[in-house]
Amino acid sequence: MDIKTIENRIETLRKELDQHNYLYYVKAAAVISDYDFDQKLKELEALEKDNPQFADPLSPTQRVGSDITSEFQQVKHKYQVLSLSNTYNEGELHDFDARIKKESNLEPEYVCELKFDGVSISLTYENGILKHAVTRGDGVQGDDVTANVKTIRSIPLKLQGEGWPSEFEIRGELVMPFDVFEKLNEERVVNGEELLANPRNTTSGTIKMQDSSVVAKRQLDGYFYYVPGAIRLSESHSRNLELAQSWGFKVSEHTRKCATIDQVIEFIQFWDRERSKLPVATDGIVIKVDSIAIQNDLGTTAKSPRWAVAYKFKAEQVETKLLSVSYQVGRTGAVTPVANLEEVQISGTKVKRASLHNADIIANLDLHLNDIVKVEKGGEIIPKIVGVNEEERHPLNQRVQYITLCPECNTELVRDEGEAKHYCPNSTGCPPQIKGNIIHFISRKAMDIDGMGEETVELFYNEGMIKNVADLYALNPTDIAGLERLGEKSAQRIKAGLEASKTISFERVLFALGIRFVGETVAKILVKAFKNIDQMMAATTEELLDVNEIGGRIAESIHAYFADEKCRALF
Ligand code: IVH
Repeated sequence: MDIKTIENRIETLRKELDQHNYLYYVKAAAVISDYDFDQKLKELEALEKDNPQFADPLSPTQRVGSDITSEFQQVKHKYQVLSLSNTYNEGELHDFDARIKKESNLEPEYVCELKFDGVSISLTYENGILKHAVTRGDGVQGDDVTANVKTIRSIPLKLQGEGWPSEFEIRGELVMPFDVFEKLNEERVVNGEELLANPRNTTSGTIKMQDSSVVAKRQLDGYFYYVPGAIRLSESHSRNLELAQSWGFKVSEHTRKCATIDQVIEFIQFWDRERSKLPVATDGIVIKVDSIAIQNDLGTTAKSPRWAVAYKFKAEQVETKLLSVSYQVGRTGAVTPVANLEEVQISGTKVKRASLHNADIIANLDLHLNDIVKVEKGGEIIPKIVGVNEEERHPLNQRVQYITLCPECNTELVRDEGEAKHYCPNSTGCPPQIKGNIIHFISRKAMDIDGMGEETVELFYNEGMIKNVADLYALNPTDIAGLERLGEKSAQRIKAGLEASKTISFERVLFALGIRFVGETVAKILVKAFKNIDQMMAATTEELLDVNEIGGRIAESIHAYFADEKCRALF
């Protein structure tokens, strides 16, 4: 291909891929298969790689992110990011309506929207090109997370259509859809990592990640709901949303114009029932005056606009009896207290367990056995106890005493300063920790050992065939084949998988060891800093601290790991 043909082909592929991204991620109406999309993306990647003179930061290939580590810059918002005042019942909505009518001397129309429970984001476009994506921060300035936001495929890097102002700003909410969140947690179970609490916290953690290639894999999404009034895009909020949609933004289809507050209440009641069917978390309904002129007349307070209000959904709460508290030891040694309850129904699901998270939560609730407790199913996956009905407490009920010894191995638990959780420090001798460590070791992101999974690790461990990761390599195929559920074929596959893993890079091995606080990124940094495992093993805490980006907690954890005879013996 001559250079002009290459340039044209790159241009065509970029246009096509942008359009397919839009159809897939915004319209949810793909017109080509994932396979065909990937083929085009690969072709474009190859052309860009061979012809770096045509590089473009807005190319669809750039959505995969880069692993360049960067601190976030603070950017001042051109228009302050306000929050919304909250209402919790119909009475307060009627008050809002009465105030609006009185202050405006009119009967304005309202727009009702879902209140997305995610992380608020402000995007600025210059001449139609995404320049900055900034978090809310303190409302005046926030973190510039542009590199991470660019990986979100439903967010246009270039505006579509026409009529957009040369300087344009739009606000919205970044969210992680429930199905993506659940998949992520399933992977964490396999890797022995602690479960993420809810999609909102996960979105917020994800968007602040230093490595945008990890963000790209997290499949965040964004809904857009507000163009600052000062931009004077059109005469109404609803028209602004239509325009934003025509320029490629994802705007919720569940938006309704209401002429009366009764219609608003109807909309709220509908979504209070139906919101569990939505693909993303919502925590209320936002009610906005539609006319921008009236919005401007009403103005804002220091914190929130006077022309809008949020109605917050109530989390359903029920009372039930606390039967006992049990303690689970996770694969990292973290202890989680769990309340065992008399079974009740909340929001259509049966509940008989609730997470108590840590000792402080138990103490703050002043929990006693046989107490009647109030249970809520909020944004968390596992329901939680939010209070105790003290009037119903029998005087002989015993206060819940937090355990001092590990329920799995009897080792005295520790609680590091500033940490909410108790830990079992016996990482090389406590069964769930040993198994967790091995499961993490064999997992896809670590040593990726073909033929093995969580169940095989459980089986080998229970049969006494493995006590640590080094034992894996001494496994005998005849012993494996002799086990129930496994045969000759599985044994050969596992052996081959283990053999193949011997060529894996040093940084993956380091990550696979499951040293506390040593994730993929830290492993990469360490491998750059130390020539080999012997040097790393011999390093003092101070030497580890000298490595850029290695802080006190990480350095101590690595040092403690290699100080343990059982760990040293693995090498
Ligand atoms: S409008 C000036 N609309 O809720 C008005 N906010 O508690 C700007 N939010 O910071 C906000 N869904 O992060 C608006 N449909 C929606 C929303 C929404 C979620 C968030 C947003 C805001 C917070 C206020």
